[in-house]
Amino acid sequence: MNNYLQRAEKIMQRINTLALISDDDNCINRIFGTNAFIKGRDTIFEWMNDAGLQTTIDNISNVRGKLLSDNANAKTLVIASHYDTVINAGKFDGPLGVLMGLDLLEQIIQAKIKLPFHIELIAFSDEEGVRFHTTYLGSKVVAGLFDKNVLNKKDENGITLQDVIQKLNRRTNQLDKDAIAKNNWLGYFEIHIEQGPVLYEKNIPIAVVNGIAGQQRLEIVFKGMAGHAGTVPMNMRSDALCAASEFILELEQFALEHKKNLVATVGKLNIINAASNVIPGEVVFSLDIRSADENVLSAAYKQIEIICCDVCKKRKIKFEWNLIQESKPILCSKEMNKLLSSSIKKSGYEVIELVSGAGHDAVAISEVSPVAMLFVRCFKGISHNPLENVELNDLAAAIKVSDNFIQELITQNKFII
Ligand code: GLV
Ligand code: MN
Ligand code: MN
Repeated sequence: MNNYLQRAEKIMQRINTLALISDDDNCINRIFGTNAFIKGRDTIFEWMNDAGLQTTIDNISNVRGKLLSDNANAKTLVIASHYDTVINAGKFDGPLGVLMGLDLLEQIIQAKIKLPFHIELIAFSDEEGVRFHTTYLGSKVVAGLFDKNVLNKKDENGITLQDVIQKLNRRTNQLDKDAIAKNNWLGYFEIHIEQGPVLYEKNIPIAVVNGIAGQQRLEIVFKGMAGHAGTVPMNMRSDALCAASEFILELEQFALEHKKNLVATVGKLNIINAASNVIPGEVVFSLDIRSADENVLSAAYKQIEIICCDVCKKRKIKFEWNLIQESKPILCSKEMNKLLSSSIKKSGYEVIELVSGAGHDAVAISEVSPVAMLFVRCFKGISHNPLENVELNDLAAAIKVSDNFIQELITQNKFII
């Protein structure tokens, strides 16, 4: 198991191939259920199948490739990440972990290594949640935690998740059959770019992830009064956009005051019936709040709602406050991380531990299995941006560490309850 740079080049080629599969010629968009999504899914299916994995596509369109142990009763180690993207995405967020996992399994097959446990490589279908404002759809199905109510959620065009799944020729009434039973999990391992600047600043290629921040995602509606932009005096308006602007700036100030362990973002804002000569009567916007500390997160949630309430009262605006999804902060497995850290040391790198501010499928899986994540440095920490980049040498470092980690798991084949 060596030639790390050569293997890194092959992974990079596949990442580049996937990056060309987009619904937009000018940037990377692969949102759940679109044509590019289907093409991306089928490309990964072929790669897994060609590698010799028992490959299937499940009912939420996860691509799943199994490498089985001779011991039919063995537990399963899942190696995974996602193949959906945000809009105007970088090419590494998600695909890196899927294609590194594929490389790891190809090496195991080539070296004819006997596995004491099954390994399942999974390319999750929807981690970003762009289309339905959810997260972890793919991993929740595999964890057996999928909430059927989500099937009624509509996208911007009024198409439900149920419709999209049916259009993909999958069966919504079979989703629970795609779960791996809690008893059958050995562990979960995800390789992902850091998406932040720490490794870049410290000049270190990889890191162990300690835990993942909790998050709350909301949809907020501000309702004022639409009116004529030329005739309504400034002091007689109830402008929903001005109110949203004031709220957003106050939110920023609040998050800055708590910047040690809180971030808050309005990433999406829609003016209903927008026109240059109409005072905005209604705006709908998103709010994303995150912290690694559960108490900080819940206190911030309440405080931000009060800020919202005060702004709306002052400006005579009605508001709706809808919590769309939330996840608690999670801790990665101490036992798995011990092995991961010793694999990093053994591979000749400094061990550093990071908390992830970004969400990952590991969050959903952590409810049923021990989880571990390896972060890979990305250029200046830039992510969710076409400038996302990873050096070949860092990929090679991550391959070396992951090889050692899997080897350790195989040798030890005990832990993790
Ligand atoms: C996923 O990328 C998230 O953290 O929102
Ligand atoms: Mn992402
Ligand atoms: Mn991701």
